[in-house]
Amino acid sequence: MRKGIDELMVIKRAVWQGAARLVALMGATVCAAVIMGTTAVNAGNIEKRDFGKLPDGTPVFEYTLTNAKNMSVGVINYGGIITSIKVPDRDGKIDNVVLGFRDIDSYVGKNPYFGVIAGRYANRIANAKFTLDGKEYALAANNGPNSLHGGVKGFDKHVWQVKELPGGDSVGLELAYRSPDGEEGYPGNLDVKVTYTLNDKDEFRIDYAATTDKATVINLTSHSYFNLAGNGSGTVLDHKLTINADKYTPVDPTSIPTGIASVEGTPFDFRQSTRIGDRIRDGDQQLIYGRGYDHNWVLNRPNDGSLALAARLEDAKTGRIMEIETTEPGIQFYTGNFLDGTLVGSAGKMYRQGDGLCLETQHFPDSPNHPDFPSTVLKPGETYKTSTVHRFFTDKI
Ligand code: BGC
Repeated sequence: MRKGIDELMVIKRAVWQGAARLVALMGATVCAAVIMGTTAVNAGNIEKRDFGKLPDGTPVFEYTLTNAKNMSVGVINYGGIITSIKVPDRDGKIDNVVLGFRDIDSYVGKNPYFGVIAGRYANRIANAKFTLDGKEYALAANNGPNSLHGGVKGFDKHVWQVKELPGGDSVGLELAYRSPDGEEGYPGNLDVKVTYTLNDKDEFRIDYAATTDKATVINLTSHSYFNLAGNGSGTVLDHKLTINADKYTPVDPTSIPTGIASVEGTPFDFRQSTRIGDRIRDGDQQLIYGRGYDHNWVLNRPNDGSLALAARLEDAKTGRIMEIETTEPGIQFYTGNFLDGTLVGSAGKMYRQGDGLCLETQHFPDSPNHPDFPSTVLKPGETYKTSTVHRFFTDKI
């Protein structure tokens, strides 16, 4: 009998121990879930919201990519436009460092290419024409005698298909657009994919890819106007800039490159970090043509398609720094020379000359008419691939 009771006690104890273990396990699971829940809150996420409608009724959405450190990037499906890039300053204060608008009507209206994907050929093509395989192609002359940023209705004015790319230590969006054969005068059906990725190291990366069914020319870039002191905070003349380039492409009066020249001894020498305002009013003929900086630099880089440092932008006031790495051979540095106080931006302030600057990684302007420049020809069977990374940090040690 005693043995029976003892056995019963053993069984009871085992049941209790099992139950206790189960409770402990459940507790651990709940804790893990809570921890994971917390992680989930801090991990990158993608939010989608209505951003109004195009005049033809097409709905526009804004996607916000946010990383674990609270940096965020806003993107709309119209033009693949980057509407905001929010990063902390040296005290942790987050601000939007790109120019933009609050509503879709302003983007559809007179947008000076704020944040857009520029294409099929970003930058200029002289006299709006080029010859490929013996055939001349006529484009729209939408910038004096030249074609600028893909013509009258470039990639910046189309709705892109968006796929959300949730991930572990990064979040992203894949944007796709098919540019039909003959669109804006360019040959070949071109399938374009642009992928925006924001990782937890505060790096915002853009990968471009395209294929065609007829030989064509292509040059894609992202056209954000940066102001590291904050959108709407005044001019960027106090920012300091470094461009990793010994050479640039001087232009004619219509901003078409005339060749390649050394930056040595000119206001175009940004090999050392230099305040942008220091030489912008120098009276240099090239600066007069552009009303400031609006030129392409020939980057010092290996010719192997790797990511190499192109530029570094610093704002001493806020401590914000942005570095740009690219696989591209050139970068257009444009000081917002044509902003003239007629547009009111997303911070509720009007934009005046020099209130933002563009650093557009790309092939050289007018390459289709310069056989000596790196080629922008894409043939069937080939894949166009380029990448650019914007790395944000501060001078806080
Ligand atoms: C060009 C400028 C032009 C601007 C339009 C830049 O990429 O270099 O000349 O005015 O785009 O926003």
